[in-house]
Amino acid sequence: MTDEFDPARFRRVLGHFPTGVAVITGVDAAGSPAGMAIGSFSSVSLDPPLVAFMPDKKSSSWPKFKDSGHFCVNILGSDQEDVCRTFAISGGDKFAELAWQPAGSGSPILDGVLAWIDCDIEVVHEAGDHWIVIGKVRELDTASNQMPLVFFQGGYGRFSALSLAAWESDLALQMRSADLARPYMEELADELEVECVASAVVGSDMVLIARAGKLESSALPTAVGQRIPFEPPVGSAYVAWASPSAQKTWFDRLSKDAPEDYLEVLQRTVKEVRAAGYAVGRGHRWHSQAAEVLSRDEPVLHQDETSEQLHQLIGLLPPDYESPNVDVREVRTVSTPVFGPGGVVVMVLSAVVAGRRSLDTDLAFTVDRLRGAAAAVTEALHGAVPEEELG
Ligand SMILES: Cc1cc2nc3c(=O)[nH]c(=O)nc-3n(C[C@H](O)[C@H](O)[C@H](O)COP(=O)(O)O)c2cc1C
Repeated sequence: MTDEFDPARFRRVLGHFPTGVAVITGVDAAGSPAGMAIGSFSSVSLDPPLVAFMPDKKSSSWPKFKDSGHFCVNILGSDQEDVCRTFAISGGDKFAELAWQPAGSGSPILDGVLAWIDCDIEVVHEAGDHWIVIGKVRELDTASNQMPLVFFQGGYGRFSALSLAAWESDLALQMRSADLARPYMEELADELEVECVASAVVGSDMVLIARAGKLESSALPTAVGQRIPFEPPVGSAYVAWASPSAQKTWFDRLSKDAPEDYLEVLQRTVKEVRAAGYAVGRGHRWHSQAAEVLSRDEPVLHQDETSEQLHQLIGLLPPDYESPNVDVREVRTVSTPVFGPGGVVVMVLSAVVAGRRSLDTDLAFTVDRLRGAAAAVTEALHGAVPEEELG
């Protein structure tokens, strides 16, 4: 290996490992800030809390603050490529155009970073043409809800979630979010005289995780724990804000027997839901059929059978069933997403009516109030709405 070692090959192969990007900052003997962009950041130990990064022996920034005994790790967000470029160039005043605050150690925390970790230098090891710097964590925090900046094969990119919803398999976290949502749900249910339900994706189902408000003509068998297969065209409020790869997971659940143009209309519907900010569910007949299946005795004992019957019923729905743009009549549900950190959908809040009632005339008002409640829960979860259309 040593004889025929090829540095270009080493770089090319190692470039297949994606990394986040951090700026390591510190202050020099005169108290001026210094910093460098690095990809070699890693968490090392929990007890004691240690992290590491590896500066090149040729770095001109690291020697400036190594004797201060401290450094701060600044984890960059996907909108900070320019910050990364500034700190990846040797020399010049890298802080000229940047706002920052001193951490407890005095090392700079740059404005707009995802998270920062303020450290005392514990030990520095020599490793070939680099140093391995190990720091003991003094203090750390998250600072924004951006997606991280990602470096891969020499280029910048951003993280795109493969799962459809945040914490898809972590019901405990979803239940805690539902707890946070409950006061808003109760207020909404009171004001709109609707039932307000929160649901989350768990495996291949949408599970009802909380409900508020009781409908007079409670023909509606909403119960916490109730499951509905997460299959097109049902669940667009989860899918509309997801990454293209996550959307594909849901589109792939479409029955093989679906008519040819079904997928096209379904994809359009998802775009319409995202543009409008909400999805609807309409039609008395479908809802009463679904209600009949769901109100059977001992649904847990008959879960497979119930799922199969619901699967059949979902298969009867048109691809634009949840579209807010179709001439909306007999609107029975309005649904809107709640976002967690990073812009992933944690759960969906829905206003539901039953019996002879529909939301047609109150639609604009219902949407407005529902979105207000979802925004409040998103804020309480320190969540963020994804900024731009991903696909
Ligand atoms: C994405 C990315 C990751 C980097 N990772 C490292 C690293 O882990 N260690 C390092 O010494 N330099 C790394 N660099 C290069 C330094 O940022 C660069 O050499 C910079 O010029 C150092 O400047 P200085 O002379 O002011 O220390 C990286 C650069 C980029 C763009």
